[in-house]
Amino acid sequence: MLKDKVAFITGASRGIGNAIATVLAKSGADIAGIDLNIDELKSAMKRVEDTTGRRVITVQADVGDSGSVERAVEEAIKVFGRIDILVNNAGITRDNIVLRMKDDEWDRVIRTNLTGTYHCTKAVIRGMIKNRRGRIISIASVVGVMGNAGQANYAASKAGIIGFTKSVAREYANRGITANAIAPGFIETDMTKVLTEEVRNTLISQIPMGRLGSPEDIANVVEFLASDEATYITGQVIHVNGGMYM
Ligand SMILES: NC(=O)c1ccc[n+]([C@@H]2O[C@H](COP(=O)([O-])OP(=O)(O)OC[C@H]3O[C@@H](n4cnc5c(N)ncnc54)[C@H](O)[C@@H]3O)[C@@H](O)[C@H]2O)c1
Repeated sequence: MLKDKVAFITGASRGIGNAIATVLAKSGADIAGIDLNIDELKSAMKRVEDTTGRRVITVQADVGDSGSVERAVEEAIKVFGRIDILVNNAGITRDNIVLRMKDDEWDRVIRTNLTGTYHCTKAVIRGMIKNRRGRIISIASVVGVMGNAGQANYAASKAGIIGFTKSVAREYANRGITANAIAPGFIETDMTKVLTEEVRNTLISQIPMGRLGSPEDIANVVEFLASDEATYITGQVIHVNGGMYM
């Protein structure tokens, strides 16, 4: 489906980002994997390369730093010639109730999740305009739509991604570029490993399908949105949550 397309994926070293890299490479794409954690990234991307035979590069970058993102995009374009697909996946949580939230917890989450999405989009969009084709897929969250006690910073960053996505979709629709967000429910990754058994059981009781999602449940939707089959879909939020929110 994605034969010889080039995908630039942030937060690719584990969890959802790693599953996205694997699924897109299996679908025929070459991969630029981006992460803060270069050691974990290198071993994860080596596995992707070995199992799919696609070309894979790794670049250490902090999505919250515009210079670092620009250098990563330059590196990917130097190797592959262009970027067809951007996946804004890197994200963090620093949970606290508003009353106790530290400015640093607020700032870090907004900077990584929302400003990081802006930096990466800005850095790839010129090339996409030139190619008259591009796919921008950003990982939001159900929490950005429903809110969540203890996650005001995270929810605000994810709601921000949704507004940003719709604006980019409107700005570049006539240049052959689509921008969509995916809003996962709760997915089995390191991010949700920290939940206590009690919180996990309460969550599961709110999910009609009775389970957390897998990283592949999200990666398969990224593959579809990145493909030529999704040409007429833009500015949308695709909910992938086992029925938790409908
Ligand atoms: N796991 C879930 O239940 C869930 C639900 C909804 C949305 N999401 C979103 O999906 C995305 C991936 O989540 P995950 O569960 O795989 O998380 P994870 O913590 O397992 O992986 C996140 C990756 O992003 C990288 N990263 C963090 N900050 C970075 C930065 N500044 N620059 C570059 N890379 C950075 C980390 O090193 C890590 O490899 C996030 O945006 C998250 O908010 C996750």
